Amino acid sequence: MTNNPIIVALDFEDATQARALISRLGGASDFYKVGMELYASEGMQFVRELTEAAKQIFLDLKLYDIPETVKRATAQVAKTGARFLTVHGSNAVMRAAVEGRGASRLGLLAVTVLTSFDREDLAELGYPASIEDLVALRVKNAMAAGMDGIVCSAREAAAVRALAGPGAILVTPGVRSESAAVGDQKRVATPAEAIAAGADYLVIGREITRAADPRAEAVRILGEMNS
Ligand code: C5P
Repeated sequence: MTNNPIIVALDFEDATQARALISRLGGASDFYKVGMELYASEGMQFVRELTEAAKQIFLDLKLYDIPETVKRATAQVAKTGARFLTVHGSNAVMRAAVEGRGASRLGLLAVTVLTSFDREDLAELGYPASIEDLVALRVKNAMAAGMDGIVCSAREAAAVRALAGPGAILVTPGVRSESAAVGDQKRVATPAEAIAAGADYLVIGREITRAADPRAEAVRILGEMNS
């Protein structure tokens, strides 16, 4: 676990809104996730703006294409100084990404099986495996391919840690703090539970970005985790 494990998801439609949130956080977080929405609207120029402002960036593009394209795209991402990039956990894609990042500091995270997938979705793709077995296979493949870590749910984190080893970086979205979890019907892991299960970083979006006071909320979540 790092000092501040929170990565704030910049799930906004434009850079103006993202800049406003970063400004309101006032240094309470220096690590941000740029996903497909903001990337589609503002592109790499905005990622460069953030890295030049000494922000750490997790670029969540979940690349999946022919190896040459993945390699070349990853090389371009590496030039921006982004900290993490996601690619899908298929061997050819992961190996191409590892080649593409070369000697840069870009960390590569594998997406094993999308959390929106159930067994029927796998069957539709022609995969006879269960979700758990496919996640396990892809975690092992990811580490063998030279990836740095895995994006996984808090519920998977302990199993993924056991397979990926102590050096793997585990990044966990979908956590909710104690107070926010109250009243939820589904049982979601709290930040403290996710860290206890082996997560290194937590991706938190709306709980911080839609808070009346995002800075206070980020500080409160950190306090809750440390208490
Ligand atoms: O739910 P919340 O707003 O905290 O989501 C934060 C980020 O985590 C979003 O960018 C979302 O795409 C991502 N996420 C994910 N997998 C999940 C849940 C959320 O990648 N199971």
